[in-house]
Amino acid sequence: MSEDTPIEEQTKTKEAEKEKETEPKKSEYKFIEDLPGVGPATSQKLRDLGYHTVESLAMATSRELEPVGVSEKKAFQIIGAARSAIGINFVRADELYKMRQTVLRLTTGSKAVDKMVDGGLETQTITEFYGEFGSGKSQFCHQLCVNVQLPPERGGLNGGALYVDTENTFRLERIIQMAKHLGLDPEQVVKNIIYAEAYTSDHQMFLLENADEIIKANNIKIIIVDSLTAHFRSEYIGREMLASRQQKLNKHMHKLIALARAFNTVAVVTNQVMAKPDQFFGDATHPIGGHIVGHTSHTRIYLRRASHGPVRIARLVSSPYLPEGEEILKVTENGIEDVTEEEKAAKTRGR
Ligand code: GTP
Ligand code: MG
Repeated sequence: MSEDTPIEEQTKTKEAEKEKETEPKKSEYKFIEDLPGVGPATSQKLRDLGYHTVESLAMATSRELEPVGVSEKKAFQIIGAARSAIGINFVRADELYKMRQTVLRLTTGSKAVDKMVDGGLETQTITEFYGEFGSGKSQFCHQLCVNVQLPPERGGLNGGALYVDTENTFRLERIIQMAKHLGLDPEQVVKNIIYAEAYTSDHQMFLLENADEIIKANNIKIIIVDSLTAHFRSEYIGREMLASRQQKLNKHMHKLIALARAFNTVAVVTNQVMAKPDQFFGDATHPIGGHIVGHTSHTRIYLRRASHGPVRIARLVSSPYLPEGEEILKVTENGIEDVTEEEKAAKTRGR
């Protein structure tokens, strides 16, 4: 500060500086290089491992930093500093409660389905849609990419979407149709979707492992992996490969949750079902991925066709705190919509 700066301003600046000193060391760590103990070599190794932002580092475990070559103690320190920088602390239950308070909700396009999941899909956890081919899983994914861009008063999150497509089923035309129906500018909507095609399961994992910077720079509020399991299913065949498949899937899901928490985004995955030939009663189909996917998906929604036509049944199969439920919706030209009262009445009258 120069000598001729007015006294008043000098005091103001001093006060501001003082305030800065008493604040938790939040704003100091903007980039991973700012973290104590992270020199140029360490930062390069962290980047190679996919940690480009303080946010993603805050969600890492010390074991995940092993390849960096730092001691466990130092890994803890780095992660601790990253956590303090973004103001999270998992240790205390009240902090956990505070984190829950920041959960946001995203509309699916169907009020009935939103109600079933307590107001829309939540941020910070994974929602899984599973069902047979043509049941509407990818349609939900497309719709959510558009809905996320709506303002909060319309059920959106004013953010962008990251779409990891493993089966080449993403269709821009469909996005444009849905955007138009919601009165959004299709050109703008398309710009807010970051699309990546995953060619193999390893590539799919790599994409998420390196997504943190993209998520941050583009204000991504939903991460979609459609389909979570298709590559894993086709690459890991037979019983002897099951363990390694599950291990990889677990790691992949863990990364997804970490990103969803770090950036407060919704995370959606889709999953096919396989027939269970030894089951004679009830619905003999089961989602792929077994316990791993089941335990890490916090909310599972089973989709199936009602009969022929646009109507689908969405069943909430598991949720940490909601009762099971079932709702109907339809997939139309406009996207995911509610079934109207008239349509319901017509159906019960058998028309
Ligand atoms: P898999 O990925 O094959 O496992 O299936 P999925 O569950 O992802 O199916 P998807 O979401 O792609 O649903 C496809 C179905 O959605 C179609 O059979 C149609 O019934 C419906 N659908 C897709 N696009 C349109 C459209 O433009 N208009 C209408 N009316 N329906 C559509
Ligand atoms: Mg699909």
